[in-house]
Amino acid sequence: MLPQKSEKSNILKIAAGSDHAGYLMKTQLVEFLKELGHEVIDCGTDSTESVDYPIYGQKVGHQVAEGFAEMGLCVCGTGIGISIAANKVKGVRAAVVHDCSSAILAREHNNANVICFGARLIGDQTAKDSLKEFLDAEFLGGRHLRRIEEISEMERYE
Ligand code: RB5
Repeated sequence: MLPQKSEKSNILKIAAGSDHAGYLMKTQLVEFLKELGHEVIDCGTDSTESVDYPIYGQKVGHQVAEGFAEMGLCVCGTGIGISIAANKVKGVRAAVVHDCSSAILAREHNNANVICFGARLIGDQTAKDSLKEFLDAEFLGGRHLRRIEEISEMERYE
C-alpha cells in the first residue's frame, strides 16, 4: 500500500534565498523541500561567490508578502542579516532558528512565515530537522494572535 500523506504534510510553495555564505545550505534545504513534495521558488543566489544578503532577504519577503509563496526560507552566515532584510517587507515575520524548539515556537507563538538559518552556526541536519518541524507546526492563535496583530498595526502606521 502506498504511504498516505498526513493532513499536515500539505504541499506548500516556499520561496528560498541565501547569500554566498548560505548558498550550500540553501541548496541542501531546497532539495529536502522537494523530496518532501513542496514547490520551491529559488530567489538565488546561485553560487558561493560573494554577494550582499539584503536583496535576497527582500526577494523572499516579497514572494511571501505578495502571496506567491506561502512560506519563506532564508540562509546567510548567521541568519541574522538576511532576517533583518526580510523583516523590512510588510507582512513578513522572519525568525532566526537554531534548533527544532525555536522552529516550533516560531510557528506556534509568532506565526513566522519565513524561517532563517545561519549556515556558519548550525549543521545541515539540524537545519533540515528544524525546517520540517517548522512546516509541520501550527500557529496557536489566542493571545499570540493579539500580539502579532499589534505588530501588523505598527506596520500600518509606519
Ligand atoms: C557574510 O560574510 C555574512 O556577513 C552574512 O552571511 C551574514 O552572516 C550576515 O548577517
